Amino acid sequence: MPATDEKSALADTLVAEHFAVRDGRLIAGGIAVDELAERFGTPLFVYDAGVMKKSFARLSEAVAGFAEIYFSIKANPNPAVAAIFVAQGAGIEIASAGEYARARRAGADPMRILFAGPGKRDDELDYAIAGGIGEIHLESFEEIAQVEAIARKRGQKVPVSIRINPVAAAQGGAMRMGGKPAPFGFDEEQVGEVLQALAATAHLDFCGVHLFAGTQILDADVLLAQWSHGIGVAASVARQAQRPLRSIDLGGGLGIPYYSGDGVLDLDRVRAGIPALQQALRDEPLIRDARVVVEPGRYLTGPSGLYVARVIASKQSRGQRFLITDGGMHHHLAASGNLGQVIKRDYPVVAPAHMNATELSPCSVVGPLCTPLDTLARKTDMPDLKAGDLIAVMQSGAYGLSASPSGFLSHPQPAEIVVGDGQAIVVREREKLEPLP
Ligand SMILES: Cc1ncc(COP(=O)(O)O)c(C=O)c1O
Repeated sequence: MPATDEKSALADTLVAEHFAVRDGRLIAGGIAVDELAERFGTPLFVYDAGVMKKSFARLSEAVAGFAEIYFSIKANPNPAVAAIFVAQGAGIEIASAGEYARARRAGADPMRILFAGPGKRDDELDYAIAGGIGEIHLESFEEIAQVEAIARKRGQKVPVSIRINPVAAAQGGAMRMGGKPAPFGFDEEQVGEVLQALAATAHLDFCGVHLFAGTQILDADVLLAQWSHGIGVAASVARQAQRPLRSIDLGGGLGIPYYSGDGVLDLDRVRAGIPALQQALRDEPLIRDARVVVEPGRYLTGPSGLYVARVIASKQSRGQRFLITDGGMHHHLAASGNLGQVIKRDYPVVAPAHMNATELSPCSVVGPLCTPLDTLARKTDMPDLKAGDLIAVMQSGAYGLSASPSGFLSHPQPAEIVVGDGQAIVVREREKLEPLP
């Protein structure tokens, strides 16, 4: 049976766009994925550097002359991955001191690191301020006092932006922006009070605003509506503050297709909308010279990643086929549909050593955990795989390992490798079983 269902069509499109097939084998970064599995073992995360660079280049082109790109490191905190974007000129958006350390290990200039996140501890703020930080994005009145106290103790002025949860609903396509209660940032209605609190500080250098409204946006018009709304909010804050802003962070949220029927974010359309945004900046003298930042994570790393697992058993249960693999939700919670997804749908999954197989039939791909939640694909068409064969979950480069309950059932952490130009580099060693006492 040929791969005619929409899910297989998405996998085929993604393979054609980002990878290659040679002699029925999936090729990533010039190397056959089954060879990588042989060399580095399974389960294995493979990140293709060429795919990441291509995503960065495409987005850079779309926002050229308008915004700088900061990589949201939470999407994939492996320093070797972040280093790829730093080398392309990206800054880094972080949300913890641990991410600060990773950004620095990736070679980021501290002045090109932004620190957002709703609950920052004193020790984290101190760590970042001591190491140097481009901006801290303030999210509560407590945090204004925390940063002021640390900056005073250190005798430094610290650049800060305020994160705003906007009041209006910028309706655009399916997505509503703001208007809801949220623990992130300050409600827009509180801006006056926030500016007063900032004016009473001596060590905070108020430089701008930050808005982040949602993730996995696939509609260019929704994205543009959000950015436009963000610029409007920035203009309003600048007028209230009666001073020019130096920085406007419009957030991340650029989506990638995971499921059948998902579209692709149309960057040509985004680029076509940029002149109107630039005009909106020029229209308000107080934000005319502000630098604009976008901080995507998923868009930059998601498509580069494959999660490769080996089949341990293939069984039939009451007429249903199950492929039981050595990989699962403990490494890839998002693919199992348990990372906040309301409806559990399957990521595209392929058999990397049988890419030309035509005899496919439905099966569930599951992991080794003792829970039915540990399902990597509920109903996917696969060849007749046996123990020892491989599966690869596509679109696995963002919110994979670091967003997963890797301690659950005490399986070893998988290896992570970066591939490109026929080379493979281990960027996280596979965890070994503990030696017995
Ligand atoms: C403040 C902030 N910036 C950027 C991102 C990255 O989002 P995405 O990966 O959807 O681009 C997130 C994700 O949660 C975020 O909270």
